[in-house]
Amino acid sequence: MTAEIIDGLQIAKKVHEEVRNAVDALKRNSKIRSGLAVVLVGDDPASRSYVSRKERACEEVGIYTETIGMSAGITEGELLGLVADLNADSRFHGILVQLPLPSHISADAIIGAIDPSKDVDGLHPVNAGLLVQGTPRFVPATPLGVQRMLIEHGVETTGAEVVILGRSNLVGRPLSLLLTQRGAGGDATVTVCHTRSSDVARHTLAADVVIAAAGSPGTVTADMVGANAVVIDVGVTRVADASRKSGFRLAGDVDFAKVSEKVSAITPVPGGVGPMTVAMLLHNVALAHRLQCVS
Ligand code: GUN
Repeated sequence: MTAEIIDGLQIAKKVHEEVRNAVDALKRNSKIRSGLAVVLVGDDPASRSYVSRKERACEEVGIYTETIGMSAGITEGELLGLVADLNADSRFHGILVQLPLPSHISADAIIGAIDPSKDVDGLHPVNAGLLVQGTPRFVPATPLGVQRMLIEHGVETTGAEVVILGRSNLVGRPLSLLLTQRGAGGDATVTVCHTRSSDVARHTLAADVVIAAAGSPGTVTADMVGANAVVIDVGVTRVADASRKSGFRLAGDVDFAKVSEKVSAITPVPGGVGPMTVAMLLHNVALAHRLQCVS
């Protein structure tokens, strides 16, 4: 079998259209544009690239955005001061601090200082807790994007065996909670595998849906998946490639060439989950603006 490709760019376009309509309506009603502040600390090329993609997408759908660039030497106290300023700035309905942060700064302290009603990353303990309790408000964009891709592609999650590789707070852990919720895109039976799991293939071979969020190319090989599986690849690792002008290419966690010959559906890298992460961030900004209008 050759797998159907789940086209993240096409689904993201549909989400962009929905968000554009939502922010237009919010602007008409509130007389203010939806706004997102992005904080970028240091000059990591991958983070820069992600942030500029987010900026472009905001502009495309009519969200006002500012990126506040800070040197890698900023102190934790200074960064907490910046977050406090952004919490109080009514131009911004959402705040995103691009991760990872330099090792001398506690990401937990910074995330915990963001006003939960502006936490469009869904990482603040209040928002993480709401998801745990089954009453989500802001859900991290990548898990939300993965769930939307499954729904849009018509993948039945009710009663499905889903295996997630990776237990990060950004992807694996919230995704496991999202897919076990009641309702559309939920009601799945979820297994989370991680670096200490034994015999990962035993789990993935029995799965209807395999979601790779390990951040390590080659994690999922063709002998690890069943013939009717749906495979979602969240990985994006820069791999050196002298044949490219940039000097690198993006690699997912899945051996796409071999796995796509076996399974029923698969997401590519690039052009799969990546555009959905950006699209669902925009969705969260519009949601933040709407919630702030009614509060
Ligand atoms: N770094 C990689 N992905 C993300 C994300 O979704 N949010 C933030 N804040 N940083 C990231």
